[in-house]
Amino acid sequence: MDITKLLNKESFSKEEIIRLLQVIGKEKVLLFQKSAEVKQKYIGNKVWFRGLIEFSNICGKDCLYCGIRKGNKNLTRYNLSDDEILAAAKFAFDNNYGSIALQSGEIESPAFTKRVIKLLNNIKELSDGKLGITLSVGEQKPEVYKKWFDAGAHRYLLRVESTNEELYRKIHPNDKKHDFQRRLDCLKSLQDIGYQTGTGVMIGLPFQTLDDLAGDLLFMQKFDIDMCGMGPYIEHADTPLITYSDKLLPLNGRFDLTLKMIAILRIMMKDINIVAATALQAIDPIGREKAVKIGANILMPNITPGKYRDSYKLYDNKPCTDDSAEDCQSCLEARVSLADAEVIYGEWGDSKHYERRRGTMAQRHKGLFCTPKKLD
Ligand code: 5AD
Ligand code: FES
Repeated sequence: MDITKLLNKESFSKEEIIRLLQVIGKEKVLLFQKSAEVKQKYIGNKVWFRGLIEFSNICGKDCLYCGIRKGNKNLTRYNLSDDEILAAAKFAFDNNYGSIALQSGEIESPAFTKRVIKLLNNIKELSDGKLGITLSVGEQKPEVYKKWFDAGAHRYLLRVESTNEELYRKIHPNDKKHDFQRRLDCLKSLQDIGYQTGTGVMIGLPFQTLDDLAGDLLFMQKFDIDMCGMGPYIEHADTPLITYSDKLLPLNGRFDLTLKMIAILRIMMKDINIVAATALQAIDPIGREKAVKIGANILMPNITPGKYRDSYKLYDNKPCTDDSAEDCQSCLEARVSLADAEVIYGEWGDSKHYERRRGTMAQRHKGLFCTPKKLD
């Protein structure tokens, strides 16, 4: 099919997505033009910050790709004190970031649940309820998610990593702690509780095919996610998956594929929040800005205290590990303007899709409408 016709379709089949993932030259330019147009129309040329606090690299799991996996004895484990976390949140608030994101390795315990509740309460208090809070601390019981939601977290990011169960099993240990179905169940309970729910995948994993990636995008659409964070897979020397390095696409191929995934998703889901992942910058110094230009609208400046950053290495060559929070902000601002976009300060920058979805749900509950509200 002619590319212009294809790009103007209301929805894509799997085959059409695979075709779009392979475009080169003029066709690629047209894909990126279309996704940029969609972003401009539904979101505007805007970017919102989530100040990222990686508060601990202690992880109970052993994902085969991840540098902070439990089995990696080759790094110093850290756990920020509550005061350090609150100071970072205060920095975000004082600098008028609308939101922060709290991220850590995955721990399931009553003590961890309680700690996060306390942090949420304290952050709400120090910001007079004004800082938006995204949580990204992995798989937890539904009642734990609910407690955190009630304590003020309103967005949750849980990447599914791959929606092909067979591939999921190849990149995780095969045990109860790394269960594909549980990941899906967790996403569902987050959505049911009322979080703005985000997921995403790694792109360019060993064994991954274009068919898998197209399936990932269709999953996101069907699940009706509000936010997406997806980035290139980057090998880490101290992980089991390093054995397959010779099976990978070159880094620039993974980068290119990630931009195409973002562009296609923007066309498919016009009003969701899409993060320009930090991993893009590990490959191209202006990788995140390129993502902003073609569809992403969220950036996550790292505001973890500098001395810990080197120890939160999910993958090799992670950028900005020795900058301070202030450096990250001014550098990002300059970069965003390079992408002809504008940073919006002092706003949560909630997913518009969420508002539309919730609006529709509320109406459905009142029995007023049965069909989703349409975008113009
Ligand atoms: N390369 C790229 N991304 C990675 N992540 C973990 N390890 C890697 C890697 N080697 C991503 C996962 C996880 C997120 C916090 O970081 O998608 O969900
Ligand atoms: Fe920590 Fe996967 S290694 S959640």
